[in-house]
Amino acid sequence: MIKDIIHKKRIGEELTEEEMREVFLGYLEGKVPDYQMSSLLMAICINGMTEEETFILTDLFLNSGDILSFSHIPGIKVDKHSTGGVGDKTTLILVPIVASCGIPVIKMSGRGLGYTGGTIDKLESIPGYRTDLSKQEIQSQVEKVGAVMIGQTGELCPLDKKIYALRDVSGTTDSIPLIAASIMSKKIAGGADKILIDIKVGSGAFMKTEEEAQKLSDIMIQIGKKYGKETRTIISSMSAPLGRAVGNALEVLEAISILDGREQGPLYELCIDLASSMVSMGKEISYEEAKILVLDAIDSKRAYHKLLEIIAAQGGRIDVLSVSPYQVEITAPVSGVIQKIDALEVAKLSCQLGAGRLSKEEEIDYGVGVYLHKLVGDSVQKGEKLFTIYQKDRTPLNYDISHIFEII
Ligand code: URA
Repeated sequence: MIKDIIHKKRIGEELTEEEMREVFLGYLEGKVPDYQMSSLLMAICINGMTEEETFILTDLFLNSGDILSFSHIPGIKVDKHSTGGVGDKTTLILVPIVASCGIPVIKMSGRGLGYTGGTIDKLESIPGYRTDLSKQEIQSQVEKVGAVMIGQTGELCPLDKKIYALRDVSGTTDSIPLIAASIMSKKIAGGADKILIDIKVGSGAFMKTEEEAQKLSDIMIQIGKKYGKETRTIISSMSAPLGRAVGNALEVLEAISILDGREQGPLYELCIDLASSMVSMGKEISYEEAKILVLDAIDSKRAYHKLLEIIAAQGGRIDVLSVSPYQVEITAPVSGVIQKIDALEVAKLSCQLGAGRLSKEEEIDYGVGVYLHKLVGDSVQKGEKLFTIYQKDRTPLNYDISHIFEII
């Protein structure tokens, strides 16, 4: 009986494969109601899952939908995933770098649900950009340009989708085994040969401590091994937003400014690190050798031109990308050094401006968001510009921005 399975997990015992199949596949088929699944998920959050249970759950997620294969496209396909961050536009920067190092990239991304837009929302801020290429179009663009950046094709892991929606409303998102099974099943179903995971740690992330991030890393690597997919991880900070821009069109412009050499800093450093790992995996060379290729792709502007080529190939008109003309500048109330920029607070602000969606039906406003003129560690004088808010109109903003920055 389902309630016995829930009780078994509640007292911290390991579930068998048969029990897991009964409860999870029963949920997918509508035989197990939300209240029983929520109860089980809460028991998992509190008592965890063994490695074996996590493998079984990954397998149930994976086999609940389509499993893609791009084996007809030559080369090792390396996929990258971030566990979620504020202002995370790394995909827009990495894909052209890796492609211009000669590695084919088929990057499938999602829309954002939460305070900020996802990679697909960012790409769709470019007028004309198509994210829904056919199988034939994907293949011919990878052959011609070397990369595609598209939305998800096929129905991957519908069981994870149903469970994730329930986790979102039942306070059960931040469980290491649930996150590991959820992300790894989708990456494996997406047809990658090798997988790189950027695990975010900090106030704006699921993982609040390095120790938790390390545990997530360990289990993800084990899952990858089980499916014969080499998996590497990078643990990176998400206490402040990543880069300067949070908001869809603003983030595309920031990605371009990194690739054409106008901008450096922590976002640039993270992208070099991630791209070097991807190139190392894709070319089966050392990280150090890969880093030389990556830096050359950026310095020579090959990666910059590759991004423009990918956008144009997918119908995007980067020349008409626009941000909102309604801008409000926020200045520093005191002089000092920036100690903290709260990622979560910046995300909430940008969502209130219209850059994110809290339900699937909400429309995103691509031109709004926040641009940070100062980053953590910068000095600032009283009255100097701290950040610019891009609003959709002139209506005064009803949001307390005092807790975003800490200046001492
Ligand atoms: N992203 C996912 O796809 N699943 C999780 O559980 C967390 C982040």
